[in-house]
Amino acid sequence: MIDLHCHILPGIDDGAKNLDESLALINTAISNGITHMMCTPHIQLGRFDNTVDTISMAFNQVQQQVTAQALNIKLAFAAEVRICPEIMILAKQAKLPFIGQWQGKNVLLLELPHSHVPPGTEQLIKWLHKNDIIPMIAHPERNRDILADYKKLKILVRTHCLFQITASSIIGDFGEGPKALAEKMLMDDLVNIIATDAHSLKRRPPKLAEGRMAAAKLIGDEKAHKLVFDTPQLISATKFM
Ligand SMILES: [Fe+2]
Repeated sequence: MIDLHCHILPGIDDGAKNLDESLALINTAISNGITHMMCTPHIQLGRFDNTVDTISMAFNQVQQQVTAQALNIKLAFAAEVRICPEIMILAKQAKLPFIGQWQGKNVLLLELPHSHVPPGTEQLIKWLHKNDIIPMIAHPERNRDILADYKKLKILVRTHCLFQITASSIIGDFGEGPKALAEKMLMDDLVNIIATDAHSLKRRPPKLAEGRMAAAKLIGDEKAHKLVFDTPQLISATKFM
């Protein structure tokens, strides 16, 4: 399986704290059946001021160990970018790391605040489209505005963005609300990929196999497989060399 959203790089966001934690997460992911991991640390201006440079430095540390220990996993890196107006500047400066391509556009893993869908989100998405960037909204099933009103999601659907839901949401680790919303999105065929959003072994371990199984009960094996394999593979084909 291919995981396109996780926080396993050491010490640069609220994910793995050090290299030992990174490697423990990777070993757990391998046991879970994950063969490819896209490391997507937060870029959130003022809180996690990551850049391609800080991310690639942390990535190289991890990759070195993975190579030295001959771990059976392929890694690549991008970022999970919190929505803000400065995204337009970063896009123009070619400083946005993408998780891959979709229908000729670069795919940006875009995070909304957990509390709400900020005003201007649709306009920003339209601007990104015009600049050959297609946003993939990270874990909409955990957004409080969308949890309260499914129409908020439908507004985003109309902007032709992609949607990633979190494996742990489908199995209920985030509570009943996100579980029910993840299930509804799966049944409505609105999910493009399932990812782990793994942060730590205790708080949020990589549980892609469990998420895939829970999804398969709702939409069948073939469709669930597509969400953890075919589609993420198609998106990230140029990233895992
Ligand atoms: Fe995340």
